[in-house]
Amino acid sequence: MKNLNNKNILLGITGSIAAYKAAELVSNLIKKGANVKVIMTKASTSFITEKTLECISKNSVMVDESEYDDSFLHLDLSKWADIILVAPCTANSLNKIISGLGDDLLSTSCLAFKNKIYLAPAMNPNMWNNTVLQKNLKIISKDKFEIIGPDYGNHACGDVGYGRMSSPEMIIDHLSKSLGYGELDGVSILVTAGPTREPIDPVRFISNYSSGKMGYAIAEYARDLGAEVKLISGPVKIEKPDKVLCIDVETSMEMYDQVISNISDCDIFISAAAISDYRPSNTLNHKHKTEDGELNINLIRGRDILKAAKTENSKVFAVGFSAETKDIKKNAKLKLKNKGIDMIIANEANHQKGIGFESDNNEIIIIDRNEIIPVPMNTKKELAKVIVNKIASKFKNNALKIKNAK
Ligand SMILES: Cc1cc2nc3c(=O)[nH]c(=O)nc-3n(C[C@H](O)[C@H](O)[C@H](O)COP(=O)(O)O)c2cc1C
Repeated sequence: MKNLNNKNILLGITGSIAAYKAAELVSNLIKKGANVKVIMTKASTSFITEKTLECISKNSVMVDESEYDDSFLHLDLSKWADIILVAPCTANSLNKIISGLGDDLLSTSCLAFKNKIYLAPAMNPNMWNNTVLQKNLKIISKDKFEIIGPDYGNHACGDVGYGRMSSPEMIIDHLSKSLGYGELDGVSILVTAGPTREPIDPVRFISNYSSGKMGYAIAEYARDLGAEVKLISGPVKIEKPDKVLCIDVETSMEMYDQVISNISDCDIFISAAAISDYRPSNTLNHKHKTEDGELNINLIRGRDILKAAKTENSKVFAVGFSAETKDIKKNAKLKLKNKGIDMIIANEANHQKGIGFESDNNEIIIIDRNEIIPVPMNTKKELAKVIVNKIASKFKNNALKIKNAK
């Protein structure tokens, strides 16, 4: 299972005898589908060569920032990375990084990195038990740093105790679990995204402001957690996600047909598309010309795709979206009940606030029969993580209840 697919991993290697294990680590990360860039501290270059890591990572290995034309290399690398992992991490680098010091490319990249940093210590047992180091470890923010290992065992110097770097296999396992990758292994998910277009005549249609960004972010993150994802998308201007089966549709009727023909073999259905509730009862075969006079369009209700999907496959964990302009919570709860679905993501469609349709940001409320969770404004990519993690845990709980009831 390539559960680190397309993840950008910035690997820091520091001056420990365990640096030789970094070659295997890079190779295994790449086998898991990750893109790896390596930063070495100066001290680490006497334990393993840059050439070895360049050949394995297929990227140039960076040591000294001053050797590069890019004057903001540490900032660019910290923006490129999804994950920073320092393995092996010496006592010196551990103390430095967790204290927020920055005097080389690795520590400055860590300082500039916004997400959690993973550190795999490797050192002699006395160094690991050093009171200053242990005191520093006690006060680190758990949101900012996660320590992997170290293991107990024999050391190159002959001492025995804690301080051995965890094996590359254990480090990758820890990383994947901590990031939730593999959480949805074997689960098949159908996601809809984007708007629909309801034709009036060959050149005009009725549509809405949906950009598809929320549904695409959900599909990508569900894929990252190991799910088999199918994405049925209305016409959008964003790039198709990698390793997701994409089906393009235009109209709400096409969306309906595709959902119904794909719903039976899926475990979770997430309806993030802004499907037109109304469509013209009649589509003109020829363009309505201005000289033809007024154009009266009779709009009829479209099919309720979410309800139909849940009826077609009652076992599916169905999640809907509810974009409201007023009484957000009340309307969303009503929709949850009326459609017989398992969860609803409510949000306000508000152009002034820069949230909802078209925007990169949103502010949501996750509602199911047991809880109401308001999630403050964030990027759609970050919100997708919160939504999918919540769905994954509810879906697993449901599956467990069904299993226990048998
Ligand atoms: C042969 C040798 C092996 C070393 N192994 C380790 C080690 O496993 N862990 C550690 O914390 N320091 C080790 N050190 C000390 C570090 O290399 C030293 O503290 C260095 O300044 C670390 O720099 P860095 O953190 O920038 O890589 C070793 C030193 C030598 C000479």
